[in-house]
Amino acid sequence: MGQAQRPDRRTVLGAAVLGAGAAALGPAAAAAADGGRDGGAGRGRTALPVPAVIAHRGASGYRPEHTLGAYQLALDMGADVIEQDLVPTRDGHLVCRHENDITGTTDVADHPRFAGRKATKTVDGTEITGWFTEDFTLAELKTLRATERIPGTRPDNTLYDGRWTVPSFEEVLRWAEREGRRRRRPVWLHIETKHPSHFRGLGLGLEERLARLLRRYGRHRADSPTFLQSFEPSSMERMSRLVRTPRVVLLSSASSRPWDFTEAGDPRTVADLVTPEGLEWISGFAQGIGPTLDLVVPRRADGRLGEPTTLVRDAHARGLLLHPYTMRNENRFLPADFRRGADPDAYGDAFGALRAYFGTGIDGIFADQPDTALLAAEDFRRS
Ligand code: G3P
Ligand code: CA
Repeated sequence: MGQAQRPDRRTVLGAAVLGAGAAALGPAAAAAADGGRDGGAGRGRTALPVPAVIAHRGASGYRPEHTLGAYQLALDMGADVIEQDLVPTRDGHLVCRHENDITGTTDVADHPRFAGRKATKTVDGTEITGWFTEDFTLAELKTLRATERIPGTRPDNTLYDGRWTVPSFEEVLRWAEREGRRRRRPVWLHIETKHPSHFRGLGLGLEERLARLLRRYGRHRADSPTFLQSFEPSSMERMSRLVRTPRVVLLSSASSRPWDFTEAGDPRTVADLVTPEGLEWISGFAQGIGPTLDLVVPRRADGRLGEPTTLVRDAHARGLLLHPYTMRNENRFLPADFRRGADPDAYGDAFGALRAYFGTGIDGIFADQPDTALLAAEDFRRS
């Protein structure tokens, strides 16, 4: 996309690009006028607030992540956007898991019939032993139950172990459509392709499958209530050729290199991508970046927050919005100056940390406890 055609970031955030006339028709008529489904509640009629709160893996601070229970709670809390991470099954379905290794987030180890599926694999250069989604059909995966990833830190969440299955992405699209109709406003999704090069190498490319589902559920347009995201820029480039849904390039630590760069022999690291030149390159195929919070406000050697970098200014100057990750209320995840007491699993001064992050001008934030982030966002908009 050339500079002149690049959508303004406020446009991407959901301005009424469909036009007031169609919007006034109501959700179903607006969708019909455009010849397709609309995600449940009309297109382009709801602007996201700034800063927007993105429920990270659902309300994962309170429920086992990536379950319909975690997504529902996040939506009920009022989260502006709900995140999904996607990996494939053996029979080519997309399911919502943070990684293809499901050892730590399901009860797979308790199923004797799957004992023989345990395997050791190398994923993006890291050797992992466990059970992997690509070795299960969707029907087999559906016999498993989701469990809490960090029971030591979030023991209350284990109350819900076994309550929900691993959702297929299509199930989530249907849920979002239902909830959108019921609430008469779109349910925004933020959808990440996980390990896209790895899966393409296995013949399970994610992007075409994702694009098919986005089209089927009317989330393939530039004004769809949806963001796509990936740590591999080539995955977002590929998506840009398949659908018009807005895209966000995730950026890990400055010294890291996207796995697709490693495979292609591209020497650039994230430090190169956050330069003005790197951001200019990203803006050719994406509408935003999702940097780690440390790239926005680095932590000093003593763990306290330092001075903000110029990343917000530099990205906005190129029309890119910023959705940094991940805000978590527990002391162990907070910068040292916002920890309270000695218990690493107790909540610290999350409001103080959120105030500091929102003060940089970011457009949204991924948060495990969306209710806290929503209150902080409200405070910030009032200040
Ligand atoms: O996608 C934004 C954030 O979720 C990235 O981190 O590892 O939780 O997917 P991760
Ligand atoms: Ca993610």
